[in-house]
Amino acid sequence: MTRLHRTTLLEAGFPWQELRDIARREGTVKPAIYSMHRWWARRSPTLFRFILAASALAPGQADQLGNAASRTDLLSDSVVLDPFVGGGTSLVEATRLGAKVVGYDIEPLAGWITESELASFGSTVDWEPLDEVIEAARSEFSKYYPAPTGWQVLHYFWVARISCNSCHRSFDGHPSAVLARDLGRGYMVGICRYCSRLHRVDPDRRRIDCECGGRTTLDGRTAGLGAVACPHCGFEERLTDTTSRAGRIPFRLFAKELISKHDPNHRRFANATRTDHRAYDSAAAALELERDLSIPNGAIPPGRHDGRPQIFGVTSWRQMFNCRQLLHHATVRGQFRRLPDPVRRYAQLAFSESLATNCMFCFYSTDYRRIAAAFSIHGYMSVARPVELNPWVDGSGRGTLLNCIKKVRRGVDSVGSLSPAKQHIYVRSSEHMRELKDASVDLILTDPPFYHDNLEYDRLAGFYSSWGDEILKPSTGSPLQLSNGEGEFARRLADILRECSRVLKRDGIIAFTFAHARASGWNALDEALSSCGLSLTAAIPVEAEGSNGFHSHPGNLKWNGLFVCRKGRPEMEFDPAPLREAMDDIALSDADRVNLARALAVARKHASKARGANGR
Ligand SMILES: C[S@@+](CC[C@H](N)C(=O)[O-])C[C@H]1O[C@@H](n2cnc3c(N)ncnc32)[C@H](O)[C@@H]1O
Ligand SMILES: [Zn+2]
Ligand SMILES: [Zn+2]
Repeated sequence: MTRLHRTTLLEAGFPWQELRDIARREGTVKPAIYSMHRWWARRSPTLFRFILAASALAPGQADQLGNAASRTDLLSDSVVLDPFVGGGTSLVEATRLGAKVVGYDIEPLAGWITESELASFGSTVDWEPLDEVIEAARSEFSKYYPAPTGWQVLHYFWVARISCNSCHRSFDGHPSAVLARDLGRGYMVGICRYCSRLHRVDPDRRRIDCECGGRTTLDGRTAGLGAVACPHCGFEERLTDTTSRAGRIPFRLFAKELISKHDPNHRRFANATRTDHRAYDSAAAALELERDLSIPNGAIPPGRHDGRPQIFGVTSWRQMFNCRQLLHHATVRGQFRRLPDPVRRYAQLAFSESLATNCMFCFYSTDYRRIAAAFSIHGYMSVARPVELNPWVDGSGRGTLLNCIKKVRRGVDSVGSLSPAKQHIYVRSSEHMRELKDASVDLILTDPPFYHDNLEYDRLAGFYSSWGDEILKPSTGSPLQLSNGEGEFARRLADILRECSRVLKRDGIIAFTFAHARASGWNALDEALSSCGLSLTAAIPVEAEGSNGFHSHPGNLKWNGLFVCRKGRPEMEFDPAPLREAMDDIALSDADRVNLARALAVARKHASKARGANGR
């Protein structure tokens, strides 16, 4: 890349509106490589690729952007750095364009995921050793998931067993009386509130009369996933309150969903039988006996914003699973560990990805009739009626081990024919990037954590990491988003930006996103920019990930500023038009408008050369 102080398309004439539309169309369906393992705040891959491509083009070349963004040699002479790699989007996209990539993240899981995504480029994996292990384990485990001939268990349903705080009788704590509903096939599965027997009824039925003598109203009302209602007296309580008075809540297996081996569309619900209980008990007994299995025994670190999951009595990682799940996970993990490279890495990735759908924090979505993974809404929510997936079901069933392996294989296959990545990923804070020489990087593209990010990557990642101690590199230090006050955040961000400036080549470019719902967050950025030796050459509005709010910053902002900076004070005129155009968009929320106005103010102040005398 020959740039030498010439303005780039990223800094003048970047077609942000067209890219917004492209990224919107891409939506949540991302390329297969990003489905290998969950990460929480992934940026739009297309947007990142176009940003990278625009840094290699001149201002008048907007019409060549699409073409440039698909050239595998576009950045082949460049080094691209991301000091906060997260799920790896920037570096994966830079690799597609042929760059040499370097990344830092303080979170070991992020480092491992990114390194694995990059390792897939150009790799040929022999899957046979994995297939063999899977076949053996599958038959070994089949006794723990018994089913009638021609059928397989897909889901087991568990329910909290509670003693009522009002009438003092015991009951199964169902959050709602409807387990599943299929309007297409015209049925609904109701649960007797007294004995938990299942009743298959018409979807418009209002009531079930059970052979136990109990009568249940099917009003579709839900006490809430983490709340339960006593069938005897109607007393409602949140699980957290139940726990604080009665201790950790036991769960009882009451039903299952079966899937036909011949026709995956054919499924049925059934009450749990003695055989089901015996199978579970024998898994629990095997877990007792297997002294060699290694199971995480660490404590879950306390949350900073709420007391979950400790407030419902779950204090250690192992308590997030039932005995059958622990036996399964520990066995599989041990076997995967002995696989040869490189298939071992991908098996371990699939195993890790399967954890969030194979734990007791999953619930069943009534209308979609499928499992919702732990953390699918946010953080650690309590689930009164957890669902346990049979990890050995193939094809159907979201998040079974076999399906996670398929996802990883698809990810690897999707980039296997491309050139291998030239990558270095370091698990540590980017405050000191001592592996990097002065003036050695062409381009930095990053998405820093925002101050007081209420997304606790470290605590969510801990769930996966508790099973990955032998794979993940250790890390020390505290994440930037958890800085102790805005002053510390600004100082640390400035340190990192200064490090970025040090490693950037003389004509290098750094582009980073930023948003904050409060003025104080912007003050922190202002302060950091004042002392890092960088000046701003462009500010572009970019849409943040997720209407799902997972790229969560306080105030639920949908827009971020993308700040483009250079070293020193190059003669480049800052153009406020893109931010202004976005602010004129009538579809903008008030919070977003204020946010972009603040972005513009900070941008003007730190512009390398402001347009006009008064900065307008
Ligand atoms: C917003 S995420 C990056 C997401 C990424 N752009 C993606 O598309 O997946 C920010 C990352 O910064 C990391 N981080 C926080 N403090 C850090 C520090 N001091 N040094 C390096 N990484 C840090 C967090 O662990 C998190 O993974
Ligand atoms: Zn009661
Ligand atoms: Zn009943």
